[in-house]
Amino acid sequence: MNEQLTIALSKGRIYQDTLPLLEAANIIPQEDPSKSRKLIIPTNHANVRLLIVRATDAPTYVAHGAADIGVAGKDVLMEAPSDNIYELLDLQIAKCKLMVAGSEVEKPHGHRLKIATKYIKSAQAYYAQKGEQVDLIKLYGSMEIAPLIDLADRIVDLVDTGNTLRANGLVPMEHIAEISSRLIVNQHAYKTKFNQINEIVQQFKSVIEK
Ligand code: ATP
Ligand code: PRP
Ligand code: MG
Repeated sequence: MNEQLTIALSKGRIYQDTLPLLEAANIIPQEDPSKSRKLIIPTNHANVRLLIVRATDAPTYVAHGAADIGVAGKDVLMEAPSDNIYELLDLQIAKCKLMVAGSEVEKPHGHRLKIATKYIKSAQAYYAQKGEQVDLIKLYGSMEIAPLIDLADRIVDLVDTGNTLRANGLVPMEHIAEISSRLIVNQHAYKTKFNQINEIVQQFKSVIEK
């Protein structure tokens, strides 16, 4: 008997890049979240459903068991508590880098560096490991604006093609971490629904390893 299985995914690149993996596991969503306003999407299996959540919320749904499994960026996982979650697979999707960026020609700063970021924990750990004292300013998006209007000296943000930095006259300065999305699993569900979850893991693996 297959039990109810709930999968937390965010719209956009994670959903798009997870679709082929789901397909390999014979899980076919019945609606497209980019077209539908529905947040709980049924699949071709009556007992399997998708929750469409904010990218930063996926670990919360999985940690609380509201979703059994989910997909989240390593950047998001590094900021979230890891209790009750196993990170089972590197899905090799939504790849980018966490970097320090700033203006090509920086004004001299006679103060501690001010860093604007959504990634407070990662930035804190990075500068602590460098032994550098900085002031962190929490933002939720559009970090690239901060150095342009002197809110901060530099930013810690994701970089892929570098287009967003370039478009805003910024340059990448320091590499902090390689980022990709991970399959996360609720620890309790991994015991009680092992066969079902393991089947999906094996199917995902067969695609990733190709
Ligand atoms: P929210 O809309 O809730 O603020 P978000 O902007 O983080 O979330 P997405 O842009 O869909 O949502 O990003 C989801 C994940 O994809 C990120 O956590 C990161 O791991 C990865 N990612 C983000 N931007 C890029 C990019 N430009 N290229 C490749 N991967 C990226
Ligand atoms: C992400 C990220 C950077 C950008 C980097 O933004 O926050 O701003 O991608 O990618 P690039 O180096 O290829 O330009 P996203 O496209 O997710 O937009 P968002 O602000 O809506 O999150
Ligand atoms: Mg984004």
